[in-house]
Amino acid sequence: MGLKTSLKKFQDDKFGMFIHFGLYSIPAGLWNGREPQRRGYAEWILYNAFGPDIPLKEYRNLAKEFNPLHFDADEWAEAAKNAGMRYLIFTAKHHDGFALWDSKVSTFNAVRATPFGRDLVLELKNACEKRGLQFGVYYSHWQDWEHPCGGLPHWQEISPRDNRQFDQYWREKCLPQVNELLDYGIRLFWFDNWCKTPNLRYENLKELIDLVHRYDPECLVNSRIGVTWNAPELLDAVDYISMGDNEFPKEKIARPWETSGTFNHSWGYSCCDYSWKSTAYLLQCLIRNVGRNGNYQLNVGPRADGSFPPPCIRRLREIGAWIGSHAEALYGTHPMKQPFEPDFGCLTESPDGKNCYAFILNNSNDIPYYFFTDRPCRSATVLETGQKVDYEQDGNGIGFKMPRETAFSIYPVMKFELA
Ligand code: GLC
Repeated sequence: MGLKTSLKKFQDDKFGMFIHFGLYSIPAGLWNGREPQRRGYAEWILYNAFGPDIPLKEYRNLAKEFNPLHFDADEWAEAAKNAGMRYLIFTAKHHDGFALWDSKVSTFNAVRATPFGRDLVLELKNACEKRGLQFGVYYSHWQDWEHPCGGLPHWQEISPRDNRQFDQYWREKCLPQVNELLDYGIRLFWFDNWCKTPNLRYENLKELIDLVHRYDPECLVNSRIGVTWNAPELLDAVDYISMGDNEFPKEKIARPWETSGTFNHSWGYSCCDYSWKSTAYLLQCLIRNVGRNGNYQLNVGPRADGSFPPPCIRRLREIGAWIGSHAEALYGTHPMKQPFEPDFGCLTESPDGKNCYAFILNNSNDIPYYFFTDRPCRSATVLETGQKVDYEQDGNGIGFKMPRETAFSIYPVMKFELA
């Protein structure tokens, strides 16, 4: 059976932007000028600093400060597009329960509870669609620290084992909000669960997956809705597999899948997280995933004023520049069948099978590289420059040597035209 049209497109798109933005972007990892004792992602500050430090009431008050005057949906979408990204997934509601659209279900949202008073989900959706980017949302279904019954409430009086309580949250907030998002025209969902939990039972998960697919069978749902850990029987009911945070599988996976990764450590903006990864490393993550049949979704945590942190801006531009001259080797391609993964990096094939592309991640100018094919080669060139590549064909495949001039270039790609 072929893939759903929407899923095929998602898979062809290869590269997307994730954005974590919400009330947590204001404290940016610090509460009263200090990092909480329990350290972790900045978007977890309510959880990590709770106890002596952040009562829920105080956290809720952040809504009164939420006023990202530099937020410009067009600018965000443009940055994603220029980076070579073809879709964008935005935190419509994270674990803190704060909605970034005009939710009628809960007034704890960006339109009703803040001086900003704007609907970020709608603005971003429009900005993305104007540019042909697919727009999707992250929706925290399993945890909602604002709703009294919303899961993992280690400071609340509710046992997370009490399913009846959780079901109250499920019916009062989760399902109606997902319905609202469907009504908004959202057709790509990124749900988030990563461990076994008594709250997400088979029935809940089935109900949520069915709700979305009944609304529109082309609507996409990821595996982190919780099926892996809590209802493996439903693995086939979800559309694409989401890896763990920054988790990169070592081999090809047949089903459509993606890794969500960060530029540094935190997802939400953290003013004390300086562990920025290099552009070369981030590109390598993308290339490896594409070579293993997967997507890559790279996260930006905008600052409280709605601007992207400068280290992200630079890396996005650099990644976009590289993709700009290697686009045909990425989008719409699939990994080329080989008996084992090539030592130089990865190999993709154009949809019509006429060209194949060798991404050189270990650039050695001395050792010849080799891949398997029974089709005669017509020409071999460096994709970016058109420079000829020396190659030899035998009964099993093609051996080639990197031109000396590519020694210092980041991830050159060789294009082979096959007859
Ligand atoms: C984790 C975190 C969350 C983040 C997500 C992104 O599950 O709980 O804060 O949104 O990963 O992959």
